[in-house]
Amino acid sequence: TAQLILWTLVGYGLGSIPFGMILARLMGLGNLREIGSGNIGATNVLRTGNKLAAAMTLLLDGAKGAAAVLLARAFAPEDSVQLAALAAMIGHCFPVWLGFRGGKGVATFLGVWLALAWPVGLACCATWLASAAVFRISSMGALVAAAASTIWAVFLGFGQDLALGMILTVLVFWRHRENITRIRAGTESRIGQGK
Ligand code: G3P
Repeated sequence: TAQLILWTLVGYGLGSIPFGMILARLMGLGNLREIGSGNIGATNVLRTGNKLAAAMTLLLDGAKGAAAVLLARAFAPEDSVQLAALAAMIGHCFPVWLGFRGGKGVATFLGVWLALAWPVGLACCATWLASAAVFRISSMGALVAAAASTIWAVFLGFGQDLALGMILTVLVFWRHRENITRIRAGTESRIGQGK
């Protein structure tokens, strides 16, 4: 039990680091809450017009998810690995430091999958890029990739991670409620459109 609690805390701690917020502040891009969707993720950092900051946010938010999995795999009992992954996602989406108002989990979700089962991670990245390119809507890419992750997990032979993947998918969809409403209304912002 002590191990489970420890790795939940490690995962949550890593996941809760709001890299987008930190980078935007350090690089003088302003307060993400007052920009675009108000979200702390790479998509919203991109709306500041700074592509480097957006790319760094994507990488670091992904890396913290991957780090939680890799650290747990290296030092924790096997049953703590999935827990650390879930805790990192929860940390990103509900960080105590930001009054539990965090991000939408897309980059962290991809990082977790890359570390947990890299073929699934790569397939999800490709799905995300392809659907974002087709629809020209970042959230749409995220939703398609999240939904596809469960299919990829089964198809690529990682059925043991399916339950976790389903929980992460539900979490991503839940965090995109407002985006889903906007997509249905046809008002969701398009990539490169600024807002
Ligand atoms: O990564 C989150 C993305 O899917 C949507 O972000 O800022 O358009 O709500 P945003």
